[in-house]
Amino acid sequence: MAKSDSQFSCAHSFSRHLPEKIVTNDDLSQRMDTSDEWITQRAGIKERRWVEAPMTTSDLGVQAARQTLQLCENKPVDAIIAATLSPDYNFPGIGVQLQHKLGLPHVPAFDLRNQCSGFLYGLEMADAFIRAGTYSRILLVGAEVHSTGLDVSTRGRDIAVLFGDGAGSCIVEAQTEESLNYTDSFTVIDSELHSDGEFVKELWCENVGSAHWPVRVDAEMVAEGRIFPQMNGRKVFEHAVKRMAEVSLSLLTKHGLSANDVAYVVPHQANLRINQMVGKQLKIAPEKVWNTIEKYGNTTAATIPIGMSHLVEEQSLEKDSFVLSCAFGSGFTWGAGLLRKC
Ligand code: ACO
Repeated sequence: MAKSDSQFSCAHSFSRHLPEKIVTNDDLSQRMDTSDEWITQRAGIKERRWVEAPMTTSDLGVQAARQTLQLCENKPVDAIIAATLSPDYNFPGIGVQLQHKLGLPHVPAFDLRNQCSGFLYGLEMADAFIRAGTYSRILLVGAEVHSTGLDVSTRGRDIAVLFGDGAGSCIVEAQTEESLNYTDSFTVIDSELHSDGEFVKELWCENVGSAHWPVRVDAEMVAEGRIFPQMNGRKVFEHAVKRMAEVSLSLLTKHGLSANDVAYVVPHQANLRINQMVGKQLKIAPEKVWNTIEKYGNTTAATIPIGMSHLVEEQSLEKDSFVLSCAFGSGFTWGAGLLRKC
C-alpha cells in the first residue's frame, strides 16, 4: 500500500555497543576443527565479539540505547521496539527490560522476532506508528547474545564461526525542524517486507518450543544438540542472495530509482560473499556496499544499526543522498528499507 505523505518519520542517533572480548578465527580453531583460512574464504569473517559472563542481550541493548538517548539529549521516548532472537529469558522479551533498565516511565515495549530482518521490520513498524500519529519518538533496538547459544564443538562449526554478539539502536521520530538537525538524521522513505514460512526448518533452533510434547526439552534433545541453531547453509545462501537483491530492486523501482542513485547499501551481515553477490546483482560498485562482518560476524538484528552507526561516523553523506538497507534471515524473512539523508 502506498504510504501517506501526511507525517514523515526520520531515523537518527544511531549507536552501537559491542562486547570488549575479541574472538579471532585462530581462537576458534583451538576449540573446534576449523581454520582462519576456511572462515575467511567462506564467510569473510576475521573476528567477532563474544560476551564475558554475566552479560545478557538486554544489557548490550541498554548500552547501545543509552548512547542513542544521549545523542538525542535524553528527550522522552513514547515507545520501545526491540528486535532479538536471543532474549534474556524465554519470556518476557527484552523490550520490558530495556524500559526498566533505562528508567523510561511505563512506556509500551514491543518485541519483534524476525531474526536477521528484525531491525527492518522494526523500522517499518516504527514508521507506521509515526505516520498514524500513535507515537512520536520511538527507541528502536536490535540486540543479540549468540555466543552462549552456539555449539562450539566441531559438530556446530558450520554455524558457530559465523555469529557474534552486539547491539545497535536509533530513534525513529516524527519529522520536525528539530529532528532534522541531527547530524545523522535520515527520512524514512519506505520499506518492503516479506516472509515465507515454508523454510522454517532451513535455519532454526527447535528447542525450547511448544512443538514438543509432553515436555519442551529433555536430556535426549540436549545430547543430540537440538538446543543449538541448525542451518542448511547452501539453501540459506542461495535464497539470501536472490531475495535481498530482488526486494532491493523492487523498492528502488517503486521510487523511480536505480542502484546508481544510492550512496550506500547497508546490508545485513551474514556472509561477505552473500553481500558481494547482492552488490553484483544490483550492479553497484563494491565500495558502496557497507560491510562490518569482518570484525563482528553476524549479529542478526543488531547488524544494520551497527552498520549505520559506523557509516555515519566514517562517511560524510551529502544531503538527499539515499541509503538502502536489506536483510534476509530465518523464517525465511526478508526486506529492504530506503532512507534519505536530511
Ligand atoms: N571450518 C571448517 N570446515 C567447515 C566448517 C568450519 N567452520 N563448517 C563447515 N565445514 C566443512 C563442511 O563440513 C564441509 O565439509 P565436507 O565437504 O567434508 O562435507 C565443507 O566445509 C564445505 O561445507 P559447505 O557447507 O559446502 O560450505 P559452503 O561453501 O556452503 O559455506 C557457509 C558454508 C559459510 C555456512 C555458507 O553456506 C553460508 O554462509 N550460508 C549462509 C549463512 C547465512 O546466511 N546464515 C544466516 C544466518 S542469519 C539468521 O537468520 C540467524
